[in-house]
Amino acid sequence: MSKRVIMAAGNWKMNKTPKEAVEFVNSLKGLVAGSKSEVVVGVPFVCIPGVAEAVKGSNIKVAAQNVHWEASGAYTGEVSCAMLKELGVDYVIIGHSERREYFGETNEMINKKARAILDAGMTPIICCGESLTQREQGVTAEHVRYQIKVALLGISAEEASRLVIAYEPIWAIGTGKTATNEQAEEVCGIIRQLIRELYNDDVAEKIRILYGGSVNAGNAKALFEMPNIDGGLVGGASLKLDAFEQIVKHDA
Ligand code: 13P
Repeated sequence: MSKRVIMAAGNWKMNKTPKEAVEFVNSLKGLVAGSKSEVVVGVPFVCIPGVAEAVKGSNIKVAAQNVHWEASGAYTGEVSCAMLKELGVDYVIIGHSERREYFGETNEMINKKARAILDAGMTPIICCGESLTQREQGVTAEHVRYQIKVALLGISAEEASRLVIAYEPIWAIGTGKTATNEQAEEVCGIIRQLIRELYNDDVAEKIRILYGGSVNAGNAKALFEMPNIDGGLVGGASLKLDAFEQIVKHDA
């Protein structure tokens, strides 16, 4: 079986101004042109117009870091799928642990967001992952399975085969403490098995499951070579040109 197309997705979080963002992707374009991996930059809302324009004609795709599930209305401070789609956004990261922790995002909200993103013709990148306490208590599998099960309620097999799941253990995010290849592979395998149970073998083989949490230029290759890991959702290292270039070209 040939593995799925590897995705190297940057999650910039709340970093870079619109001007800095355009400068960054203008430099990145040349560095990653012709790469075998799919390249995605997840940028702040205000950076999207400039970045989407700058990446035109390149192999870089644009992700948003959040979205509201309603089409329009009185939701001060929120952004809709139609707004993102019109700007040329391909992917939307939802359910990041930082949004769950600081902004009260629930599995049910993530499910509504996934529905809205798919209906708008974009692709959700659905994040999941356990805390250190949950890992130590031995409930990682149950926790992650529950998160993904609720996020996928009402999502068809055809839709599920196109989406992306990112397994990001909270204890590995921004800590420099990467999960071992085996730890990351184990949970990505559990997620793929869940997809097999919820849908079928075909969907399980097609869906892409990324690992996130202190991915860097030194550990990307070994992680992305694991059978159930189809790339990475990269925070800190995606803000640096040389590091992100090396992650994209991990197999060169
Ligand atoms: P770091 O790569 O900085 O650990 O962040 C991971 C992450 O949260 C990506 O969404």
